[in-house]
Amino acid sequence: MQFKTYVFDAYGTLFDVHSAVRKYADTLGPDGQRLSEIWRTKQLEYSWIRTLMGSYTDFWRLTEEALDYAFGVVPGVDKSCRDKLLEAYWTLDCYPEVPEILAKLRESGAHVAILSNGSSDMLAAAVESAHLGGLFDAVLSVDAIKTFKTAPDVYRMVTDTFAIAPAEVSFQSSNRWDIAGAHKFGFHTVWINRAGLPNEYQNYGPAREIGNLTEL
Ligand code: LAC
Repeated sequence: MQFKTYVFDAYGTLFDVHSAVRKYADTLGPDGQRLSEIWRTKQLEYSWIRTLMGSYTDFWRLTEEALDYAFGVVPGVDKSCRDKLLEAYWTLDCYPEVPEILAKLRESGAHVAILSNGSSDMLAAAVESAHLGGLFDAVLSVDAIKTFKTAPDVYRMVTDTFAIAPAEVSFQSSNRWDIAGAHKFGFHTVWINRAGLPNEYQNYGPAREIGNLTEL
């Protein structure tokens, strides 16, 4: 089925959040993977709690706070990597299939966009370093409305930008909680279940589940 607009979550869906830690795997040692998992989990938790509290701070600050917490709970890793890891977050690898799939969607005449919790400057840097510039009709950051996913106002940024109804949007995310929020808003949802995780958020999507974007 062809949609007018394909919208992608950024972190975990287009960009590999664990590629920062992988870059310094040798220095970080055997607990590097655990550090990366806690870093990501806490970054997301902070976004949800701040949304519930009505106390927005941009995603970059949350990314720093989450890494500092992760270093606190994984004492075995070399803390001297802190600044390098944060720097690497600006130039994360994109998943290998991403450039071709985005280009094909645009060639088909669809609009292609990012909708992300990331701040505008984080997203601009990630898009540029992954050589994805020119493949998006819009790169939408929640920073414009100062609240995080899964607040409905975030998904509304897409329908406002393209002046379309929610059902005309195919929304892709590897984050199951993000799929739940997008489904609730009325998007057609495609869960990119890269990690092969069990389904959750019953009754809140997805319309489709695929392992990576080539199946889109
Ligand atoms: C995003 C994060 C939450 O890009 O994955 O919105």
